[in-house]
Amino acid sequence: MQIGIFENAEQAGQKAAEMIAQVVGDNPQAILGVATGSTPDPLYAQLRSWHKDGKLDLSACQAYALDEYVGIAVDHPERYRNVLLKNLVWENATGLKAENLHTLDGNSTDLAQAAQSYDSEIQALGGVDIQILGIGSDGHIAFNEPGGSLTSRTHIEVLTEQTRKDNARFFNDDIDQVPTHCLTQGMGTIMSAKAIVLLATGAGKAQAVKQLCEGAVSAFWPATILQMHNNVTVLVDEAAASKLELKEYYCERWSKL
Ligand code: F6R
Repeated sequence: MQIGIFENAEQAGQKAAEMIAQVVGDNPQAILGVATGSTPDPLYAQLRSWHKDGKLDLSACQAYALDEYVGIAVDHPERYRNVLLKNLVWENATGLKAENLHTLDGNSTDLAQAAQSYDSEIQALGGVDIQILGIGSDGHIAFNEPGGSLTSRTHIEVLTEQTRKDNARFFNDDIDQVPTHCLTQGMGTIMSAKAIVLLATGAGKAQAVKQLCEGAVSAFWPATILQMHNNVTVLVDEAAASKLELKEYYCERWSKL
C-alpha cells in the first residue's frame, strides 16, 4: 500500500486523475471502476477539464459503478447512475458514453439476480483496470458495511445508521429520505481490480484512514482488507492523515518512489 499525503483535497484528486490518465493513455479501452459520494468530485472535475482541453478522452473506456441505492426514483439526482452521468457523461463531460457506464439496477424486481449478473460481468472481465474508491467514516468501501464478509461478491446490503446520517446531506439533511438498502459490489469483487486508488479527505475520515493503513485486518473495518491487495494507492489530505502514526515515513517513502 502506497500512501500519498497532500495539502488539500484538490491535490489528492489531481493525483488520482493523473493515475487514471496514465491507465487510459496506455490503454484507451481501459475499464474504470468509479465511485460516487463527494470525495471524488475534484478528481472528476480534473478529468472534465482535461477532456475539455483535448488532453484526455474516455470515449473508448467502459466504467463500472460500485453501488446503487435500492428503490430510489429513476430521476432522483442522488441515484448513483445519475450522479455518474452528470459527472462523467452528460454534455460530453469526459467522452465516456452512457452505454459504457455500467451501474447496478436498484429498482430491479429481482435484486439478487441484478447483483449476480453485474458481478458476473466484472468477473468475466477479470476485474476492472483501475478502481477509484472513497471510504465511509465507519470504514466501509463501496457499501460493504462493518461485519460483512471480506470476500463477498456483489450483493444487497443494509446501510448502517452512521452511513445514512453521513449521507443525509444529499437528501435535504433528512435521514428518513436516505434509502435503507443498496446493491453493492462485494469486497471480493473490488479486490479483483488490477489497481486500486482510494481517496479520503477531511477530518471525518481520519479514524477510518488510520484503521485502513495501520489497523488489523478485520470485518469491523472492511477497508482493511485492502492491505491484502498488491496494488493499492491511498491518497489523503492532511486532515484525513492526521491520525496516522507512521505519517513521516509514508511521506518519505512517497517522495523517494
Ligand atoms: C460511493 C461509495 C461509498 C463512498 C463513501 C464516502 O459509491 O462507494 O463508499 O465512497 O461513503 O462517501 P463521501 O465521499 O461522500 O464521503
